[in-house]
Amino acid sequence: MTGGAGFIGSHLVEALALLDAQVTVFDDLSSGAAANLPQASNLTLVHGSVLNESDLMPAIQGIDTIFHLAARVSVPQSVTDPKAYHDVNATGTVNVLEAARKLGVKRVVYSASSSAYGDALELPKVETMAERPQSPYAAAKLVGEQYVRAYASCYDIDAISLRYFNIFGPRQNPHSPYSGVIAAFSKAILAGYAPKITGDGSASRDFTYVHNVVHANLLAATHKGQLGGDVVNIAVGQQRTILQLAQAMLRLFDRTDLKPEFAPPRPGDVAHSLASLAHAKEVLGFQPIVDFETGLAATCKWYRSSLKG
Ligand SMILES: NC(=O)c1ccc[n+]([C@@H]2O[C@H](COP(=O)([O-])OP(=O)(O)OC[C@H]3O[C@@H](n4cnc5c(N)ncnc54)[C@H](O)[C@@H]3O)[C@@H](O)[C@H]2O)c1
Repeated sequence: MTGGAGFIGSHLVEALALLDAQVTVFDDLSSGAAANLPQASNLTLVHGSVLNESDLMPAIQGIDTIFHLAARVSVPQSVTDPKAYHDVNATGTVNVLEAARKLGVKRVVYSASSSAYGDALELPKVETMAERPQSPYAAAKLVGEQYVRAYASCYDIDAISLRYFNIFGPRQNPHSPYSGVIAAFSKAILAGYAPKITGDGSASRDFTYVHNVVHANLLAATHKGQLGGDVVNIAVGQQRTILQLAQAMLRLFDRTDLKPEFAPPRPGDVAHSLASLAHAKEVLGFQPIVDFETGLAATCKWYRSSLKG
C-alpha cells in the first residue's frame, strides 16, 4: 500500500492487519507517520518515495494488490506549488502503475478524488459527468485516474479508481495549515476558539467517515470480476453545509457558546458536492456503513481525547 502511514491509509492498514493480510506500507512519511500504524507482525513499513523507481520496485516485488494512496493532498498548497503536485500525484501514479506492470501485480485500487467534478453545478455528481478540475491538485488526481484506466486497458493489470468525497475521522492531522475542515474545527473548538469558516458557510459537502472508504477498498480488492479501470464515487450520499457542520461540532463539544467566524473563500474550492452512489452499488455492491452523524460523533470523541491538554 502506498501512502499507508497517512490518515486514510492507516485505517485501511488496521483493517487489513485484522484480516491477517500480509501488508507492506510504502510511504515517504512526508505527511504520514509511523506512529499512525498498528503494531502487527504481518506489517512491514518501507520508507521510500513514489518518485523513485529504485525505492518502488523492491517494495512491490511479490505483491498481488496495490492500494495506491500516496499523494500530496492540499488544494491550497497545490495552487501555490502546482509542479510538486503534478510530480507526486500524476507522475507518482504512473510510476506505481509502471512498477505494477513490470512486476505482474494483479490489481491496483487507486484513491481518486471528487475534486475531479470541480464547479459543475449538477447534483448529485455522477461518474459520467464531464470532469472540470479547478485546482492543480484536482487536475493531477484526475490524470492519475486516466492512467489507471489506460493501464487497465493496455496491460494485464486490473484496476479501479475510487473517487472519495471529503473523508474525515480519527488521525486526520489537525496541526497542518492545510487540515481538513473537521480536523481544523476540532482543534480550534477544543482550544476554546470559534471555528473559522472560509466563505459564508453555505458551501456543502458529502462528508464521509473513513470506515466507508476502508469498506470500499476491501470490496474493490476482493471483487471477483474485471473492474477495467472504472471510476466509482465513494461517499455517504448526505449533503451538509459547512455552517451545519460547525454547529453540529459545537454541540458535540458542548461549546454552543462559541459562534462561528467567517473569512474570505479560498481559491480552488468548489461550492457544492454530493455523490450519486448508484454506480458504486452496481459495480462493487458498495453502500455506506457509517452515516455522517455517527462518524462525526466518533471523530469528535477521538479529537477530544487525542488533543486533550
Ligand atoms: N482526505 C480526503 O478527504 C480525500 C479525498 C479524496 C481523495 N483522497 C485521497 O486519498 C489518499 C490519502 O489521503 P489522506 O487524506 O489519507 O492524506 P495523507 O496526507 O494523510 O496521506 C497521504 C500519504 O502519502 C504519503 N506520501 C506523500 N507523498 C509521497 C511520496 N512521494 N511517496 C510516498 N508516499 C508519499 C504521505 O506521507 C502520507 O502518508 C490521497 O491519494 C488523497 O488524494 C483523500
